Amino acid sequence: MQTKNGGTTKISGASKTTGVSESTPLYETNIPGGTSPDRTDRTDRIPFAWPKLLTENGRGIAFGGDYNPDQWPEEIWGDDIRLMEKAGVNTVALAIFSWDRIQPTEDRWNFGWLDRIIEKLGKAGIATDLASATATAPLWLYEKHPEVLPRDKYGHQVNAGSRQSWSPTSPVFKEYALTLCRKLAERYGSNPYVTAWHMGNEYGWNNREDYSDNALEAFRAWCRRKYGTIDALNQAWGTTFWGQEMNDFDEVLIPRFMGADSMVNPGQKLDFERFGNDMLLDFYKAERDAIAEICPDKPFTTNFMVSTDQCCMDYADWANEVNFVSNDHYFHEGGEMHLDELACSDALMDSFALGKPWYVMEHSTSAVQWKPLNMRKRKGETVRDSLAHVAMGADAINFFQWRASAFGAESFHSAMVPHAGEDTKLFRQVCELGETLRTLADAGVQGSELERSDTAILFSAESEWATRSETLPSMKLNHWHDVRDWYRAFLNAGSRADIVPLKYDWSAYKTVVLPTVLMLSAADTQRLADFAAAGGRVVIGYATGLIDENFHTWLGGYPGAGNGLLHDMLGIRGEEFNILGAEAEGEPSEIRLGDGDSAASADSAVSVLNGATTRLWQNDVNVTGEHAQVLATYAGETADEWDLDGTAAVTRNPYGAGEAYFVGCDLDVSDLTRFVRGCLAVQSPKDAPSPESAESAKSPESAESPDVLHTVRKSPEATFDFYLPRGKKEIALHGIEGEPIVLFRTEQGEESGSYVVHRNGVLVLRR
Ligand code: GAL
Repeated sequence: MQTKNGGTTKISGASKTTGVSESTPLYETNIPGGTSPDRTDRTDRIPFAWPKLLTENGRGIAFGGDYNPDQWPEEIWGDDIRLMEKAGVNTVALAIFSWDRIQPTEDRWNFGWLDRIIEKLGKAGIATDLASATATAPLWLYEKHPEVLPRDKYGHQVNAGSRQSWSPTSPVFKEYALTLCRKLAERYGSNPYVTAWHMGNEYGWNNREDYSDNALEAFRAWCRRKYGTIDALNQAWGTTFWGQEMNDFDEVLIPRFMGADSMVNPGQKLDFERFGNDMLLDFYKAERDAIAEICPDKPFTTNFMVSTDQCCMDYADWANEVNFVSNDHYFHEGGEMHLDELACSDALMDSFALGKPWYVMEHSTSAVQWKPLNMRKRKGETVRDSLAHVAMGADAINFFQWRASAFGAESFHSAMVPHAGEDTKLFRQVCELGETLRTLADAGVQGSELERSDTAILFSAESEWATRSETLPSMKLNHWHDVRDWYRAFLNAGSRADIVPLKYDWSAYKTVVLPTVLMLSAADTQRLADFAAAGGRVVIGYATGLIDENFHTWLGGYPGAGNGLLHDMLGIRGEEFNILGAEAEGEPSEIRLGDGDSAASADSAVSVLNGATTRLWQNDVNVTGEHAQVLATYAGETADEWDLDGTAAVTRNPYGAGEAYFVGCDLDVSDLTRFVRGCLAVQSPKDAPSPESAESAKSPESAESPDVLHTVRKSPEATFDFYLPRGKKEIALHGIEGEPIVLFRTEQGEESGSYVVHRNGVLVLRR
């Protein structure tokens, strides 16, 4: 049984696995990385364990993809393996959608095909990450038990035929799923070629919200556990509003459709989001534990869906329940934003992994098939994207999928082997990638830890969910997009920030930025205050700290988190929000910013944002702090029309040994860049006392080129520098130390340490 904090789990103990060797576990735990105290003192995690490859020493960068041999006649399998060997594939994720093939009828089990393919792959040195196969259930199960199907908010039953067409709270479905898990564990628990368990697939992709009667009953139980008494629940949801007071937990409702213009109680809706997350996490744990009881010694993972356009689950919690974290990342056709977005998503993954390596479980070699327009990748991007994930801390590069399907919903999705076959540009790139990953592995990249920044942008899944409420001053709020904009602004300013879950420990950073962290509890506000008091720099965005964890508005002026502690820290107090973007005739669409209060400060920071524009949200604030500096005001005719002319827009306030900035309006990436460069790229108070740290403080002069994404991965043996151009322009590097390991679309200059890295190129050096 997997238990938290070591517990009775055997994953970190001796392996009972037969096969390769009785005493050799199929995983390793002593990978360096994640060694700083805030990352190791975690008592709420199951132990880290990383699947070994079938190489002699078990090491290497995992490379491969989802493999669906059940879509093909067995005659093709041999060719698959030949091509996998040619490309250097060493891992596949198998049987993700194969439940119907494994259990064709309720009392018939068919493992023969799976035995054969695992064996064939294993003999060729290709390890299997074996799915629990519960992502799609067989049709006979739905015929027999239609009650396992989820319902939408209108009460319509979802039909079978796609994926995750099951209710996570259905006891009937769970029983079938766990039976399958146990069968798989019994059959493959000691198979030496199966080196990891791939639980489900993207839990929540199609059943994140379920409004079935099963869900209703489970939600009532969940509320009872969370609140204990109905009075506490009434209080939390504010049910005196619109006469919703409940006498008992039997009256608790799930937010089903209540009429076209009705609005769901935001506190209830938020709890329903949390509940959905918890039910799927419980389902995952039940599957995992069913397998672990029989096979305790193979690592467990499940593929997250982290990219800056989605926030399905609170993965900060999920990461505690896997032996290694893995992610599916699909590129954004955002032109020059493509790489920035990838790095931003990966920065959050690296935090979930606590500095240990993590898996790219899926990405695409080129176009997907699920958008209105599916662009292929540009020249170089197939290899570049994969290496960018490695640059950001990944030690496993896998694709959806190995061979492009000939039929079905995803046949026009790119794959490692395209429809045109082996003699193609794409397959040659796949082979080149396989070889490059081998080079990186041989050079010792595996297990090295991504160097951390001294700035953390804080991410909160709950705030992301809260911003989707239709009851806010603007429905255009988007926490994740604001995190991404700040991330890009730091890159533009020549420094790279980390992205860290709010609920983790970020106290070791020098600066923390909270963009649209709508929800702040009193405890989190206190953590911020303690951090600033001890010399930290806190940057608060325009819609941060407005509500508490029950979606109650903090009173006494905005942002009132912690009963006013937040606005006291900032030295301002907001009275109203000014919302633009209504697009009505004659309405202004933006407000200009002017200089700050130069009388109060000779600081050049007061003119940094002159001419910047805000288009969505402005806080109408008074300056209350005796020492607060106004760094920018609203200015001009439009500001005046809205009674904002001369009102503080961006401020700085000393707090204890640290300081707190308020960016009181939305700004685009270029204006945020100006703010980061002009106001944050100076010594943070945490640097000031010690000469050594002052030396390492980022100043505008010491900042790196904004044209390059530069990351550093370190192991006890070596340091690796990755350089990737962010834009269309090639970048020229001079005086760079280190032995070149990978020169992808890169030329070495005559002078030692000089390179030209072309668009979508990657340079990796070892020091
Ligand atoms: C993922 C999914 C894969 C495949 C892929 C297509 O969400 O896990 O099975 O559907 O998308 O991009």
